[in-house]
Amino acid sequence: MRSIKDVDFTGQRVLIRTDFNVEVKDGVPQDFYKIEAAYDTIRYVLSFVGAKVALLSHRGRPGGAKDPAFTMSVLADDLAQLFGERVCFICESHGVCVQSALDDDRARILLLENSRFEEGEEQNDRNLAKKIAAPFDLYINEAFAVSHRAHASVEAITSFLDAYRGLWLSKEIEMLTRVKENLDQPSVAIVGGSKIETKLPLITLFSEIYDNVLVGGRTAVEAQEQSRAFPDNVILPVDYTGGTRDIGPETVMTFVDHIKKAKTIVWNGPVGKFEEHPYDHGTLAIAEAIAANKNCFSVVGGGESVQALGDAGVFGDVSFVSTGGGAMLSFLLSEQMPGLDVI
Ligand code: 3PG
Repeated sequence: MRSIKDVDFTGQRVLIRTDFNVEVKDGVPQDFYKIEAAYDTIRYVLSFVGAKVALLSHRGRPGGAKDPAFTMSVLADDLAQLFGERVCFICESHGVCVQSALDDDRARILLLENSRFEEGEEQNDRNLAKKIAAPFDLYINEAFAVSHRAHASVEAITSFLDAYRGLWLSKEIEMLTRVKENLDQPSVAIVGGSKIETKLPLITLFSEIYDNVLVGGRTAVEAQEQSRAFPDNVILPVDYTGGTRDIGPETVMTFVDHIKKAKTIVWNGPVGKFEEHPYDHGTLAIAEAIAANKNCFSVVGGGESVQALGDAGVFGDVSFVSTGGGAMLSFLLSEQMPGLDVI
């Protein structure tokens, strides 16, 4: 995979696929870690004289239609503030407006409209990719979180532009490889959330490489309802609160005890109905316990687990916060990742 550090960006027009899939409430973006993850790459490219960047991302699942609820324009002001310079929002992801904004010297940073407003995006349409690529010299994938998708702005685009990996994307690969291949013992994996069918392969994989796998959330509830059998090192809840909405006090104690002793921790998915207080208790206890263990290498990913870190006020106290939800799972499971394979 080619790194942007091998490239001279002087005078280049660079398309950067970012993952700015952030929650927006009343027109106000709610979290910035995905935006900040792309910061170093954008800054690096702009450190070359005459370089210009266009930031392209999806937000939400508008399904190929122009839905104002998912416009990227809501991020323009925050980006301008972050970079301390003008950010020009273009209400298309390709076409003449993009070309003329690149020809215009008033802004070095363009923010393009939601890639999923285009029907061909999720179909990995080559014609769309060609149109998006047309005004650019180079392409950078700085969107690890969407690299498990074969979408036009992730995969097909690389048929038309030389493609490189962004700095954050490289870091994701390095950190996630570490929790897959290079574990200090004792090692603990925590798997929660819903969608048992996507979590079962992960539990199986982790049970082979981790000392213990702690399972919570709907995944644990459904596994118990279905009387699924697991290897001995997979630990399921022994009690619940609120029906089965959250893991109970005894389970919290057992989980926290394992976390306290661990030297490697990976966590994906809340262990309870995190969005409904007081059933966030178990998930927040997990977040706090991971953050309190200063002798471990800890990686956390998945939207709700990351949100729990924020709610517990410990976002900065874990070793690495992955921007990937589904992409993190795909990477850990060594599934094909179209966005990574092409670069
Ligand atoms: C994410 O937030 O995990 C990525 O942006 C991917 O979004 P998607 O699941 O809608 O493809």
